[in-house]
Amino acid sequence: MAESTVDVRDRSKSDGYAQLQAQLASLLDGVDDAVTAMATVSCVVHHGFGHLWTGFYRVVGPSLLRVGPYQGTLGCLEIAFGKGVCGTAAAERRTVIVRDVDAFAGHITCDGRSKSEIVVPVFAADGALVAVFDVDSERIGTFDEEDARGLERLLAWFAREPRTW
Ligand code: SME
Repeated sequence: MAESTVDVRDRSKSDGYAQLQAQLASLLDGVDDAVTAMATVSCVVHHGFGHLWTGFYRVVGPSLLRVGPYQGTLGCLEIAFGKGVCGTAAAERRTVIVRDVDAFAGHITCDGRSKSEIVVPVFAADGALVAVFDVDSERIGTFDEEDARGLERLLAWFAREPRTW
């Protein structure tokens, strides 16, 4: 396989997500390893849209997230449920869109260039929360409901069987 990442910045968001969804379906065909899929999803979304930071925080304890796989500058290593945007999305099991990180009380700064962010919960087939997917942008107001729906569709891969964690 020698496939390269697709840049979808010149497309509408809906076209961009559709294209990335198709590329991921092809790349992950026959794959059941969740970490391999997390690395591949991070890479494709990061380079597809040119984001600042793109990646997963995995659930590693009853209320603890640990970083990786991801693309971008150094992420905070661990985040407790309820802390920051990631911990809020994990505790509430819902997608959180932050238009301006300075206006989100408790936002955790890993890279000072981050101005807006979206965090999407990742569920396994049995409904268990296995991770959150965090995307950061250098611009205020990058993410909206279209990103939420597009990313939720991509992340539905993890709720299909069989998966190896
Ligand atoms: N900003 C996140 C922390 C993770 S980094 O952005 C990679 C938060 O508030 O949860």
